[in-house]
Amino acid sequence: MSWNVFSEGRIQLKIPADGKVFYNPEMEVTRDIDVATLNALGLRDELSYIDALAASGVRGLRVAREVGLRDITLNDRSKKAFGCILENKRLNRVDAEVLNEDCRVSLLKRRYDIVDLDPFGSPSWILDAASFSVRRFLLVTATDTAPLCGSHRGGIQKYDAVGLNTEYHREVGLRILLGRVARDLMRHEKGLHPILCYAKRHFIRLIIEIEPGARKTDHVIAKMGYIIHCSGCGFREAVQDLLGAAPRRCLRCGGRLKFTGPMYLGRIFSEDIAAKAIHYLEASGFRRRSEEMKLLERLSGEMDLPFFYDHHVLCKRLGVTPSKIGYLIKELRDLGFEATGVHFSGTGFKSDAPLDLIEEVLKKGLRPSHQS
Ligand SMILES: C[S@@+](CC[C@H](N)C(=O)[O-])C[C@H]1O[C@@H](n2cnc3c(N)ncnc32)[C@H](O)[C@@H]1O
Repeated sequence: MSWNVFSEGRIQLKIPADGKVFYNPEMEVTRDIDVATLNALGLRDELSYIDALAASGVRGLRVAREVGLRDITLNDRSKKAFGCILENKRLNRVDAEVLNEDCRVSLLKRRYDIVDLDPFGSPSWILDAASFSVRRFLLVTATDTAPLCGSHRGGIQKYDAVGLNTEYHREVGLRILLGRVARDLMRHEKGLHPILCYAKRHFIRLIIEIEPGARKTDHVIAKMGYIIHCSGCGFREAVQDLLGAAPRRCLRCGGRLKFTGPMYLGRIFSEDIAAKAIHYLEASGFRRRSEEMKLLERLSGEMDLPFFYDHHVLCKRLGVTPSKIGYLIKELRDLGFEATGVHFSGTGFKSDAPLDLIEEVLKKGLRPSHQS
C-alpha cells in the first residue's frame, strides 16, 4: 500500500494515499487544544480514554503520547481505518487497544473516564451511548452547522431544538448542541460543567466535565432555556425557562418575536483551565499555537451572556459607518457597562448595556480616544 506521511504534535502519521481514511490537517487546531486542555486538567495517567471514531487514530495517539494516559482505546468501524490505526500505533510505539466496531457497541460495552466523539456531521446519534459510558470528561465535535445554526427541520430532527439564522447563529448552534448533550447526560443522571466550548469555521467543539449524580442535574436544568429575538429591531434576550413562558411580542418595537432553543445558557468555559491551556500552548512549539492561543484568549475573555451583537449589523441598521470595535467596547465600559469581544466573530461583542443605549452610542459616533 502507498502511504502519505505527516507529523502532528509529537506523533508521526501514515495515511493511505488512496484517501480512504479520513485525515484533516485543518483540525490540528482542535487536537492541539484537546492536548493542552487535558494537560491543564492535570489528569492521573490511569484514566481510561476512548477515541470512538478514530479514523487514522491521530487524536487518541496524541492523547497517549502528549497527555501520557495509558489506558487508551481507538475504534473505527471502517476496516481501512482499523488497519491504518494499527499501522500508526506501531509507528508511534503506543500501547492501545484497537477496535473495529460500531462505536455505540464499544461505548455500551465499557465505561470510559474520557470519551471523545469526532464524527462526520452530527454527533446526535452517539450521544446516548456516550452519556452511558462517560465518567469524567466528554469531548464532542459537530460539523453540521446548518441544522445547528438555523435549519428548522434539521434542528428538530437531530437536536430537538429550533435554530435561528441570525448574526450570532454560531453561538446559538454551540448552545443548542450543548443543550442536547446536557439532556442526554441527564437521562443517565449526570450533570455537566463546560470546560472549553468553542466554534470555529465549520465546526463546534465541546470539552465538558461530567458531574455524576441525579442532584447534579438540577443546576444544569436551571441553565436551560431559549433566546427570544426580534428581526424587526434586533432586540434579543435569554429566557431561562424550559417551558418557553416568554413574551410573544418584542418589548422594544412590538414586533413578533422568534424563539430559538432549547439550549444551554450558562458559561461555556472555565477561566482557570483556559489560562492553563494557553500557558501549555505557549510552551508547546505547536505550529499553530498563536492561532490557538488567540482563540482561547478571546473565548476566556467573553462575558457571561448567551448571545452577542454584531457591530457591523447594528451600524448598517442605523445607517452609520462602523468604527473600530475596540472604541465601542471602551465607550460602553466607560459608561459603566460590561462589554467584551467574542471568539465567534471579529465584529461581534457582548454587553449588558440596553440596545437603546448601544444604538445611541453608535449614532453619536466613536472617536479613537475610545480605543481600549
Ligand atoms: C471525522 S472522522 C474521524 C476523524 C478523526 N477523529 C481525526 O481527528 O482525524 C469519522 C470516522 O468515523 C468513522 N465512523 C463512522 N460511523 C462509525 C460508527 N458507527 N462507529 C465507528 N466509527 C464510525 C468513519 O469511518 C470515520 O473514520
